[in-house]
Amino acid sequence: MTEPRSLGDWQPDRNLAMELVRATEAAAMRATPWIGRGDKNSADGAAVDAMRRFLSTVNMNGTVVIGEGEKDEAPWLYNGEKVGNGEGAECDVAVDPIDGTRLAAEGRPGALSVIAVADRGSMYDPSAVFYMDKLVCGPEGVGVVDIDRPIGENIRALARAKNVDVSDIRVAVLDRPRHAQLITDIREAGAGTRLIMDGDVAGGVNAARWDSRIDMCVGIGGTPEGIITACAVKALGGVIQGRLWPKDDEERERALAAGHDLDRVLQSNDLVASDNCYFVATGITSAEFVDGVQRHGPFVRAESIVMRAHSGTIRHVISDMDPTRWN
Ligand code: FBP
Repeated sequence: MTEPRSLGDWQPDRNLAMELVRATEAAAMRATPWIGRGDKNSADGAAVDAMRRFLSTVNMNGTVVIGEGEKDEAPWLYNGEKVGNGEGAECDVAVDPIDGTRLAAEGRPGALSVIAVADRGSMYDPSAVFYMDKLVCGPEGVGVVDIDRPIGENIRALARAKNVDVSDIRVAVLDRPRHAQLITDIREAGAGTRLIMDGDVAGGVNAARWDSRIDMCVGIGGTPEGIITACAVKALGGVIQGRLWPKDDEERERALAAGHDLDRVLQSNDLVASDNCYFVATGITSAEFVDGVQRHGPFVRAESIVMRAHSGTIRHVISDMDPTRWN
């Protein structure tokens, strides 16, 4: 085993993510009664309310830069809202109280509650274009994959870098008609697909983790989700590349007028400029990423992943909470 570095006169600093995890746990717990009830709005409302209350305890001077929408359409966790107790460092806060709202409402696997935090001003402004074409993979893909190249070439290059057969490579893709050709190309290259109904934050993070059956996540998904994923990828040391994908001419014109270069490949440092960033996610419904909220004897158990890019530490947090005492 590699020797840990000498401590010298080094003093550990705080890990904000250890406080943030209470907010994703709370959101997941409060969304749980709505699982499978077919009511996306109530599930989301419960998660937003709980997340916001717990965020107010966190020692930070946060501004929501990726939230539930503009103030006039989202009463809570809207873009620009101040969160945290106002005492700590200034930071950008990205929230997705439920990534995979439809999954939770329909009782399907893979819904998560997610928060990412980075130094103030360091997160890419996602307002120009809702969708982004993305490619995410683990550290073996650094300097190896390139979103500008055909998917088959990237699959072969990643397989070589991982020293596995192409047929061992699994590629996660959102199951959408817009990905029909991409899915065909992946299969023709000899790799397998993992089609996901929703939730490309989990898809992307799984692609970057060493302990997952997914090797790559590609295709068009939300730009906000891409920025949140970038915080995790920074901790995991993997690759995320993205290119804005306007959904229609109007969005294209608006983005061009705002000065965006739609051909530009955004790398992880473009999506999140600071290495001082955190990613926290708690499972709502179970999947490969984390287990969902479930009964565990007299407790309710929540499972989370907590990452800090600065140190590259990844924690798996299991919390057993007594529902009769839990606020
Ligand atoms: P929400 O649950 O937050 O609505 O997002 C689900 C999601 O699947 C994201 O993970 C993904 O980036 C995006 O929607 C894809 O958008 P679309 O469903 O329009 O293809």
